[in-house]
Amino acid sequence: MPKRNSLKTSLADRADRYRLYEQSVQDPVAEVELLQDFYRRARGRAARSLREDFAGTARVACEWVSGNTRHRAVAVDNDPRVLQWGREHNYQRLKPGARRRIELVLADVLEAPRGPFDLITAMNFSYWLFRDRASLRQYFASVKASLERNGLFLLDAYGGYDAYRMLRERRKVRNFTYIWEQADFDPVSSCAVCHIHFRFRDGSSLRRAFSYEWRLWTLPEIRELLAEAGFAESRVLWQGTDVRTGQGNGVFQPTERGDPDPAWIAYIEAEPY
Ligand SMILES: C[S@@+](CC[C@H](N)C(=O)[O-])C[C@H]1O[C@@H](n2cnc3c(N)ncnc32)[C@H](O)[C@@H]1O
Repeated sequence: MPKRNSLKTSLADRADRYRLYEQSVQDPVAEVELLQDFYRRARGRAARSLREDFAGTARVACEWVSGNTRHRAVAVDNDPRVLQWGREHNYQRLKPGARRRIELVLADVLEAPRGPFDLITAMNFSYWLFRDRASLRQYFASVKASLERNGLFLLDAYGGYDAYRMLRERRKVRNFTYIWEQADFDPVSSCAVCHIHFRFRDGSSLRRAFSYEWRLWTLPEIRELLAEAGFAESRVLWQGTDVRTGQGNGVFQPTERGDPDPAWIAYIEAEPY
């Protein structure tokens, strides 16, 4: 029989927003594979050391060290709550050997450990929290100073004309619904306000479980700033199309020309020297 208290609480009351986030927007096994593929293709060898910037729960960094005894990782986030959650739920689950090869660091990315690292990542558009050229350039320069000579910096970006629209997208995930809301966009600053909500079977919801106010940077702006920060080269990795479905096929190739898709996601890789 359920406890008396649980009859009173909704699914939203009992939900863990960090767990829901991981389940809805992260696929750590696939992400680690992708990182290794990108690195091997660009640098001709396997990457060993990773710094995951804006790491949140450090899910990817934990996956990185759990699958390979040669892998080391540093996960950086400036929010003590999310990092503590990552420590309790992801770090603690690692085998002792893997735990010795990872560090969860509470810091601003501008003050992150300098390594040097083979690979530094800034995923799920988190670096868009830097909203002017000077601060994004400063972040890129600090990344460059933290990379090995044959290191690689990997970022993602989204765009297309849907990116500028106010909209709500719903996606069923396990036993809840993930909702991505583009709530506001200011053409003058190019800044957008976005929220993540979760809705549950019992009708309850976690509204604004996560909110972001970030600048919608374009690919040429990002590449120009990477060059200004001293990166020798950058490439856009554009997703191919599945001929049957007309949707993205998950295969990203370097390109100098994209398609005018209404909604696209791309990666950018940058070489420091
Ligand atoms: C969109 S989440 C990304 C989580 C995860 N890495 C992912 O790929 O889904 C952004 C994270 O960046 C962190 N963050 C924001 N500004 C930061 C900064 N200046 N330095 C370090 N972390 C920062 C936030 O605390 C948050 O956990």
